[in-house]
Amino acid sequence: MMHETEGSPVSLSPAENRSVATSAAVPPATESKASPKLAQASQATLPLIDSFGRVHRSLRISVTDRCNIRCQYCMPEVAQFMDSEKLLSFEEIAQFARISATLGIRKLRITGGEPLMRPELHRLLRMLCQIESLEGLALTTNGMLLAQQIDDLVAAGLRRVNISLDTLNEEVFRRLSRRSGLDQVLAGIEAAIAQPLLVVRLNALVMRDVNFDEVLDLVGFARERNLALRFIEFMPLDAERAWNRSQMVSGDEMRARIEGRFGKLVPAQIKDPAQPATDFAFANGSGLVGFIDSVTQPFCSACDRLRLTADGKLRNCLFGREEWDVREVLRSDAVRECQDAAAVEAVVRTCLRAKRAAHGIDAADFSPPVRAMFQIGG
Ligand code: 5AD
Ligand code: SF4
Repeated sequence: MMHETEGSPVSLSPAENRSVATSAAVPPATESKASPKLAQASQATLPLIDSFGRVHRSLRISVTDRCNIRCQYCMPEVAQFMDSEKLLSFEEIAQFARISATLGIRKLRITGGEPLMRPELHRLLRMLCQIESLEGLALTTNGMLLAQQIDDLVAAGLRRVNISLDTLNEEVFRRLSRRSGLDQVLAGIEAAIAQPLLVVRLNALVMRDVNFDEVLDLVGFARERNLALRFIEFMPLDAERAWNRSQMVSGDEMRARIEGRFGKLVPAQIKDPAQPATDFAFANGSGLVGFIDSVTQPFCSACDRLRLTADGKLRNCLFGREEWDVREVLRSDAVRECQDAAAVEAVVRTCLRAKRAAHGIDAADFSPPVRAMFQIGG
C-alpha cells in the first residue's frame, strides 16, 4: 500500500469517517456532540480567525519536553526539564482539545520532546479520538519507542504517524543525536509499516556538514518501502543557538540533488495552502518526496496552527516571543467543573489576536524564541 501524505485522501477510521460526514453538513464552529456541557457553555459562532484573516484549524499538542536522544538541531546535551506537576494532565489536554474543537480546530498533532516518553500516551489518544468533529489526529515521533507501543497506539485510534529519520548510518546518528539507537528507529519504522491501518510518513532534517550526503540514500530507503518522505529545512530553533544559514540546506538544493539521481520530480497534487509541504512524485516510478522550506519559502501567510506546550502555554507561532497560560485557566474551579469553556475560549482568542503576519527570520532584528524546539513542540 502506498503510504499517503497529509492532504491526500487517507483511509479513515470509523470515527474519522463520521467526523467528515458531520463537518460537511455543518459550518466549522458548531457544537461538539461529544461534549454537550462544553458546547452549551461556549458562545462560539465565529471561526478562529486572526487579524490577517487566517482561519485556524490545527492544534499541535506537546505532551512532554523529555526525549531519549539529543538531536543537535533541537536539544542541548544537558537539558533542564519541566517539573511534572507543571505538565498538563491527559484530562486537561483533552478538555482543552474538546473546547478547541467547538471553536473550529479540526486537526490535532501530538508532539514533544518525544511524545512516546510520556507514559501511557495511548490513553490520551483514546480520549482525543472521542472528539467527533476532528478530521485528523496524528503523531510525530523519533521512532525509538514505536515498536513497543505501536499496537496500543493503533488500538487507541492512531491512524497517522510521522517518524523522523535523518540518517541510515549509526555513526552519523550518534553524531547527530548524541545517542545510539538507529536500529531502534528502524525497528519502529518497520513496526509502523506493518500496521495496515496506519499512514506512515518519514521526516528528515538535513544539516550540511552532518547528513547532506545521505539525502539520496534516504530517498532510496523511502521509495523501496513506498513511504512518503519530507525534508525539513533546519530552522533557528536549536537549544544551543548554533543555527546558521550555511548549515541549513535549502529545499531547492535538495531537490536538485534528488533530481540529479532519480530523474525529474513532478508536483504531486494541488497544494493545500495550509500545508507547509510541497510534495512531488517521481516521473519514473513510485514514491513521494516533499519539502518543507520554512526558512527559504515561509508559509506564514497560510498558517492555520496554534501550539500548546506540555506545560500548558498556548503559542500562536513557533517563533513567537509570547505565550498565553492555558494551564492556569484549566485548573480554575469553574473550568474543572466543565462549566466555563468561555474562559478558555477567551485565552485562545487573545492568543490568536496577537498573531503576527510572519515569523520574520529574515528581519534584521530577528531573534530566536526563548524556548527551543523540544520545549515548544515540533
Ligand atoms: N528546525 C526544523 N525542524 C526541527 N525539528 C526539531 N528541531 C528543528 C529545527 N531546528 C523537527 C524535526 C524533528 C521534529 C520532531 O521536529 O523535523 O524530526
Ligand atoms: Fe528529541 Fe525530536 Fe528534539 Fe530530536 S528533534 S532531540 S528526537 S525532540
